[in-house]
Amino acid sequence: MRNWINQIHHGDCLTLLTEMPEASVNLVVTSPPYNLLNSSGNGMKNGNGGKWSRAALMQGYANHTDSMPHADYVDWQRRCLNEMLRVLTPDGAIFYNHKWRVQKGLLQDRTDIIDGFPVRQIIIWQRSGGFNHNPGYFLPTYEVIYLIAKPEFRLAPKAGSVGDVWQIRQDRGNPHPASFPVELARRAIAATTAEVVLDPFIGSGTTAVAALMEGRQYVGIDLSEEYCQFARQRVNQVAQELERSTLAPDVPSALEVKALLENAPEPQAAERNTGR
Ligand SMILES: C[S@@+](CC[C@H](N)C(=O)[O-])C[C@H]1O[C@@H](n2cnc3c(N)ncnc32)[C@H](O)[C@@H]1O
Repeated sequence: MRNWINQIHHGDCLTLLTEMPEASVNLVVTSPPYNLLNSSGNGMKNGNGGKWSRAALMQGYANHTDSMPHADYVDWQRRCLNEMLRVLTPDGAIFYNHKWRVQKGLLQDRTDIIDGFPVRQIIIWQRSGGFNHNPGYFLPTYEVIYLIAKPEFRLAPKAGSVGDVWQIRQDRGNPHPASFPVELARRAIAATTAEVVLDPFIGSGTTAVAALMEGRQYVGIDLSEEYCQFARQRVNQVAQELERSTLAPDVPSALEVKALLENAPEPQAAERNTGR
């Protein structure tokens, strides 16, 4: 695993996963492309623009159109999940983030993808609002995270008390068109004792950043070299910040010094006038 750990790898995840040794990672935290552009509602109706040459999800990802025929998409995701399970240790689990949607007036949950996999729990990720206003149903405000667990998987002590509805705001200011928040990946990782965390659809590197913050190791994969480069820069920056804060844990910041001075008690008159 020396060639894999703490690196962001550029390539197709199915190809690269098959090259990874069996039982070599302890946890997967991931969010695949949702295939949003194959949609009866014409997919995303709007895009926000941004830094990437093809930024808005309306146009898909840099190297993936997000518009596969539904059956092909389901088959692809099932093959990805099988590979993720193969590289997981017997006490490992997958936090698989996905979104349910309405297709031709009916709910499309993701049962066809996860059918037969060892789903132990569905966590609701309650984001703040969305823009998918439709006269036929309420504004969707949550996504799901399937906890797909091998039999020996256990949470870290007391981690379960956080519950199965996670209220975390959507990611902001990230140039990637579909990033999830660091807090989401951190919560999943912190809830386990995993040492090595894999994200085969790592995008802007969020899972790697979260792993570093939680003192774990990571393996990241993405099809887009553009996203990989951004992820590497982001991870390096966070690693440097973490190193700085561990090297100088007791040195107060300039703001803390200012607050200390402002709140310091006035010296007593007697002390002021002694002239000594
Ligand atoms: C929903 S995004 C993941 C975003 C990530 N969680 C983040 O916070 O930035 C899905 C990612 O899958 C990548 N992708 C698409 N097809 C892929 C493939 N065959 N192998 C690896 N990555 C792929 C896309 O480039 C995109 O970055």
